[in-house]
Amino acid sequence: MPPSPNQASIYMKKFYVETYGCQMNFYDSQVVDGVLEERGMVKVDRPEDSDVILINTCSVRDKAEQRVRGRVNQLAGLRYDREEGPLIGLLGCMAQRLGGTLLEGKKSPLDFVVGTDQYMKLPEIIARAHGKEADLYFTDFDHVVTYEAQPKSMPPGGSHYVAVMHGCDKFCTYCIVPFTRGRERSKPVDVILREVETIADQDGFEVTLLGQTISSYKHEDVDFAGLLEQVSQVRGIESLRFMTSYPTDLTAELFAAMEKLPKVERRIHLPVQSGSDRILKIMNRRYTLAEYEKILDLGRREMPGLIFSTDIIVGFPGETEEDFQATLDLVKRQRFVSAYMFKYSPREGTLSARNEDDVPTEVKEERLSRLMEVQSDNTQNYLQERMGSEMEILLDETSKKTKNQLRGRTRDQFRVVVDRSPQMRIGSRIRVRIVEIRGETLMGIPLS
Ligand code: SAH
Ligand code: SF4
Ligand code: F3S
Repeated sequence: MPPSPNQASIYMKKFYVETYGCQMNFYDSQVVDGVLEERGMVKVDRPEDSDVILINTCSVRDKAEQRVRGRVNQLAGLRYDREEGPLIGLLGCMAQRLGGTLLEGKKSPLDFVVGTDQYMKLPEIIARAHGKEADLYFTDFDHVVTYEAQPKSMPPGGSHYVAVMHGCDKFCTYCIVPFTRGRERSKPVDVILREVETIADQDGFEVTLLGQTISSYKHEDVDFAGLLEQVSQVRGIESLRFMTSYPTDLTAELFAAMEKLPKVERRIHLPVQSGSDRILKIMNRRYTLAEYEKILDLGRREMPGLIFSTDIIVGFPGETEEDFQATLDLVKRQRFVSAYMFKYSPREGTLSARNEDDVPTEVKEERLSRLMEVQSDNTQNYLQERMGSEMEILLDETSKKTKNQLRGRTRDQFRVVVDRSPQMRIGSRIRVRIVEIRGETLMGIPLS
């Protein structure tokens, strides 16, 4: 007889989690920690010490999947060192995308596969895997479960993620996310507020709200502006970030509402993907270049000092040198503070994967490096502009290098390091003058 779910904790005490992909996956891994710890399991830091290995995966580009495949095989090696090696379960977007096929074949090192909406069932699934049950894959989308799942075990530190939306309805033609995360849905405000309050109660002072298209948040009569307002009011929360916005959701009203909320940081991530109208259209991005740039202008007008970062894909099928040049021009013109830049990777099941991936790898690489060069100048310019200026920072942690320094962030998210003095408290704001640039970090001296 298979063990009952409760017995999972008796047989399989120690679990280890490795997380790949975006912030949403890191958030979900915290949910998983909570679900398992509540059942008496204990998290360990090394896979060799565990009874169960969980790998939370990403499917957004082929490279992300290849990396996980390599890692799974490596971890499976642990089984040969012990009489009864750890179970291995795959979670996340790759689990959702490939489901039971991952278990096929005698050689599959995986014991179970759990998609993005099924983590509440993990204790039961682990118990069943321990009982040597086969075909353990769970990939249904389950909206209610999503809302109930909250991280119950909070990592230390002041900064935390809170998922407020799940899924995506935009179906950009290159993107796997709508298939791995399901349809767009927003969490109820009271659930979100409870989560943020718990963070504040445990000395958290910064939250990053997460959603694939977060600015389209809507639950009953609360829209994204309303959500920001309510989260802003939680006592103890000093700083509020969010990602990722879809350009056309950012209206003058929303910018104006954010301007009134000093805790909302003055940097917004707004993926453009391409600077060519022709490519934007075949990507099914629902704006033209001119519309996108107008949104940036609106933002800067309504929120003085606002800066933007972005995402860009190079080498989309059919992208010509002229199309790419338009992207390059856009990046020069708009001076993004930072950009995540990717080579196009065809994803099976998406619309654009039906077209030939016709931009040769060398061309993609060459375009990517030209783009990165331009963007690196942008980033450097922003840092240079801040030299000598006075800025307010929120102290957020002890420096990684020495206890004698503290790290903080400006309202537009530049990292600043200062020498520690006894009256400085993590979670509070101080004014500093910027005196040096080290890599992408600014060095500041406190002004009293
Ligand atoms: N929800 C966010 C992020 C989605 S994935 C948004 O809408 O912007 C993060 C980034 O990965 C995307 O912005 C895009 O630039 C990139 N990306 C997505 N699919 C890709 C693919 N098939 N090949 C290369 N990059 C991709
Ligand atoms: Fe993917 Fe587009 Fe949705 Fe972002 S908006 S998750 S890029 S489909
Ligand atoms: Fe990757 Fe899934 Fe996030 S595909 S980018 S982990 S939503």
